Amino acid sequence: MTKKLWSGRFQKETDALTDDFNSSISFDKRLYRQDIRGSIAHAKMLGKQKIIAQEDADLIVKTLEEILTDIQNNKIQFSETMEDIHMNIESILIDRIGNVGKELHTGRSRNDQVATDVHLYIKDICLLVIDDIKSLISTLLDLSAQHTETIVPGYTHLQRAQPITFAHQLLAYVEMFKRDIKRFRQVYEMADALPLGAGALATTTYPLDRYYVAKELDFSNIYLNSLDAVSDRDFCIDFLEASSVVMMHLSRFSEEVVLWCTSEFHFITLDDAFSTGSSIMPQKKNPDIAELVRGKTGRTYGDLISLLTTMKGIPLAYNKDMQEDKEPIFDAFDTIEICLKTFTKMIATITVNKDAMYQAAAHGFANATDAADWLVKHGIPFRDAHGIVGELVYDCIQKGKSLDTLSIEEYKQINPIFDESIYEAIDLHNCVSQRKIVGGPAKTTVERAIAINKGLLKKL
Ligand code: ARG
Repeated sequence: MTKKLWSGRFQKETDALTDDFNSSISFDKRLYRQDIRGSIAHAKMLGKQKIIAQEDADLIVKTLEEILTDIQNNKIQFSETMEDIHMNIESILIDRIGNVGKELHTGRSRNDQVATDVHLYIKDICLLVIDDIKSLISTLLDLSAQHTETIVPGYTHLQRAQPITFAHQLLAYVEMFKRDIKRFRQVYEMADALPLGAGALATTTYPLDRYYVAKELDFSNIYLNSLDAVSDRDFCIDFLEASSVVMMHLSRFSEEVVLWCTSEFHFITLDDAFSTGSSIMPQKKNPDIAELVRGKTGRTYGDLISLLTTMKGIPLAYNKDMQEDKEPIFDAFDTIEICLKTFTKMIATITVNKDAMYQAAAHGFANATDAADWLVKHGIPFRDAHGIVGELVYDCIQKGKSLDTLSIEEYKQINPIFDESIYEAIDLHNCVSQRKIVGGPAKTTVERAIAINKGLLKKL
């Protein structure tokens, strides 16, 4: 059995169950790049500060680079006895260069080492997630540009409310995803501080140059308090919170996709490549992707709650509980990545059934507010206008008509003030094009919003 790096004060081997229970290598091996990057920066600093000989530092750096290549080429088998990624890599280093390798851990603890790895990792994945969200936004902007005149009912309470365009609806999601990018940028900033140098909890007596290490590792800041440096996992919670919010947005969107492709709505048709069938019902074409995205939102919330709960009772400074930070982060990252990528492709390939959208807008009194507004323009106070149109709607329902198929005599029976110009006011295209103030669904306004967002996308 391989000797543990900390075995000096122990008289007995650890039990196999202890090894199994304690070890994290099965999942934290994902941190190998960040671990090696951190160790290289630490070794360079030890050499520069003459804490170890420069030639030893050079050999350590060169060997760590070789180990990195070997891991990438699948040439390395990690060992569970070595507990975690940090001790696995250190022991491989010592196997390769003997005593010189043993100098790497000078002035460092696994506590500030793991914290550094996780900070680097969160920064890396924030950038990947931001790229995925940008692709989704870009897809939505392209789709919006094709539907600035596609009329669809806007809903409140899932009841047809007022006519808008499909582009306008899609752009609402663009706004949510823009906020998500902002949120992941903030997480990046929260993770942008170097813990290394904090040691186990109380720094070290060696003259470490933490500013040099921060520069080598692209950190803009350094933790000012060593206890906080090794025990802060706020930035991980921030990542899981941002992940939960982007999943919540995707889940709401998914719910709409599921509704839109029912026979009852029939607003969109999913591409065959992004839907699935039933094992028993030959006619079925199911929106499984949207449903799975909606379903996986729950597990991301679980990841957030899991880490919040892990952290709530931990005294300063490092405690082993904190090894439980990694799996939720990995799980949330894997989940949002696959969800964002798949959802983007699914939405890019939908067929929009413009006629079904128009018919839904035409038959649900979505223009009733515009009829009331016509009355207001003809001198009736809004509250009275609301009542008059309510009577019109009731009349239509009795007769199986809509506001545009009601004759002018029928209008006049409810109130003599009506004239032919009411038909123009309740024409769905006019209802939309008249809503042209900033934020509205009119074609010109939406085109401006698309252009603004396309410009912003380059800077996000
Ligand atoms: N695998 C550990 C973790 O993920 C590394 C730090 C262990 N430190 C210690 N003193 N046991 O948290």
